Amino acid sequence: MNGKQEGPHGSLLDIYFNVVPLKVIETLNATIDGTRHDWSPADGRRESVMANSFATLLRENACFQAIESQVCAAADTWARTVLKREVSDKPLHVLRCVGPDADSQSYLRHFDSHLLTILVPLQLAPDGERNGDLIMHAFQRKANSTIANLLTKSYLFFEHGLPFFIRRVLATRDLSRAHSQRIECSPGNIYVFNGLITLHHNLDVTVGERRMLIIHHYDAGLTAGARSVTRSFRLLRDRLAGMV
Ligand SMILES: [Fe+2]
Repeated sequence: MNGKQEGPHGSLLDIYFNVVPLKVIETLNATIDGTRHDWSPADGRRESVMANSFATLLRENACFQAIESQVCAAADTWARTVLKREVSDKPLHVLRCVGPDADSQSYLRHFDSHLLTILVPLQLAPDGERNGDLIMHAFQRKANSTIANLLTKSYLFFEHGLPFFIRRVLATRDLSRAHSQRIECSPGNIYVFNGLITLHHNLDVTVGERRMLIIHHYDAGLTAGARSVTRSFRLLRDRLAGMV
């Protein structure tokens, strides 16, 4: 099947099936394997030449190109009607490869600073239970409520500092209460959502590696104030830690 499904996830995200040929996915994974020794950041994240070249390759696919144009146009309309602003910045490409030794990168519930996120899974971990799948939360914030967003950002900053097992318990509890949904990510499909307003995170992986290319469009510019708040918290925390 090649097409779009909104399905049971409602307005949380759109899934486009079988967009990227598996041959292309294999080529991208082989490229990562071939250059593994060149980069292995602790957080598994790279805004790299490689991520840019992967996105360029994907855009040679007419189907991918058509979907990206369509969702960008929809995001542009959303920005003009909801945020009351023009958005035109270039996309940000991130390649994220996360293994079992990067627990610190999982169960980090967050919002994106960009209003359009296109997720292209390249590889999931072989453990069916904890394979790095995407979790989408039902909670959608109001993009134009500055105070509420600062409070949310402050809470999430606090939550990100909690030990891994507590973050996992919190996220699992939300999942069991249907406050969030697990999105089965399959290489070949692409997943599109508004990460600016929709809370989301990834499961951890117990074996192997999750690899995802993430294409962000249109930085909404809402996080400048929140960034300075979290930076102040971080400085205060470091200062207090230094006093002990
Ligand atoms: Fe995100």
